[in-house]
Amino acid sequence: MSALLTDQFGRVHTYLRISLTPACNFRCTYCMPDGENPALSSSRLLSAMEIIKLVSWLADEGVTKVRLTGGEPTIRKDLVEIVEGISQIPQIKQIGMTTNGFLLGEQLPRLVDAGLTSVNISLDSLSEPTFRKISGTNGLSRVLDSIHLALQTPGIEVKINSVLMRGINGTEAPDLVRYFLNHKTELRFIEFMPFGGNHWELSKFVSSAETRLLISNQFEHEKINEAHDSVSDSFQIKNHPLKVGFISSITDHFCSSCSRIRLTADGKFRSCLFDDGEVDLLTPLRKGAEKQEILSHLAGHLINKPAKHGGHDFSVQTTQRSMTSIGG
Ligand code: 5AD
Ligand code: SF4
Repeated sequence: MSALLTDQFGRVHTYLRISLTPACNFRCTYCMPDGENPALSSSRLLSAMEIIKLVSWLADEGVTKVRLTGGEPTIRKDLVEIVEGISQIPQIKQIGMTTNGFLLGEQLPRLVDAGLTSVNISLDSLSEPTFRKISGTNGLSRVLDSIHLALQTPGIEVKINSVLMRGINGTEAPDLVRYFLNHKTELRFIEFMPFGGNHWELSKFVSSAETRLLISNQFEHEKINEAHDSVSDSFQIKNHPLKVGFISSITDHFCSSCSRIRLTADGKFRSCLFDDGEVDLLTPLRKGAEKQEILSHLAGHLINKPAKHGGHDFSVQTTQRSMTSIGG
């Protein structure tokens, strides 16, 4: 295992999350700051070749798992090329993508052929008006079509992500569980996190414990043991293929077993979602820097990764960047 990707607390980083663009065709209130247009000109984005080069260098140091995020990754025209390039790197065993699902249906077959192994699709509500209120779109039926297509596609693992907010969709968990009860998937409830401009308030916050209680009133479930670096606390719904997971980013942070590092769409390396300290890799890469130079910039930053939550106390402050600009 590479010392280069090990931080001051001995955490080994094998999981790379790459944001392909800050832009999105949805405007989810928990993610996208009001009125912000996060699009970047394509020259400021890592190109497909640059991404593949960086992943292959990091794979040499121990990265085995990649997740493509955004913004919305399916709006990148070269998405299939990126997946194909990454899947040809022998050390990379898993390539996942997180998407809002709107454009996924038409792209899924090509993405699976190219080597995509898992997809996490966001679905915060089964009600048209609530979906519209959260995402700013009428996309519910298209997203559901994409989800069903993905669930029927062999060779790809599917998870569903929901962020619950009190007063909006805060009590929808049992409806979502019922909807997916007979599907082989994991429905994951992610605690609403504060990011730049996303109107996080304690009054809107719904804890995993509260959601789990709501679900347990209606569905028997038992604990599943997960990998040491899993961020989700997962349960099997009894007598059904559905699993339910809770990602308690706020109430039970899992930072001590974190194996994640991140690249933003504009080529900055981040050691933690919540740590605003970043290292620009794009500029040196475009000036011709080679593997050792890039990796030493990155490692010099990673060694000082904070113990938890990017060193922040959520009651006082949060990260300055919005979720869409960092990548989920
Ligand atoms: N809190 C929790 N999860 C969030 N996501 C985006 N913003 C937030 C937030 N503020 C996650 C959601 C979404 C994915 C793209 O990022 O899970 O599905
Ligand atoms: Fe787009 Fe996902 Fe953010 Fe919603 S949560 S605005 S779909 S990036």
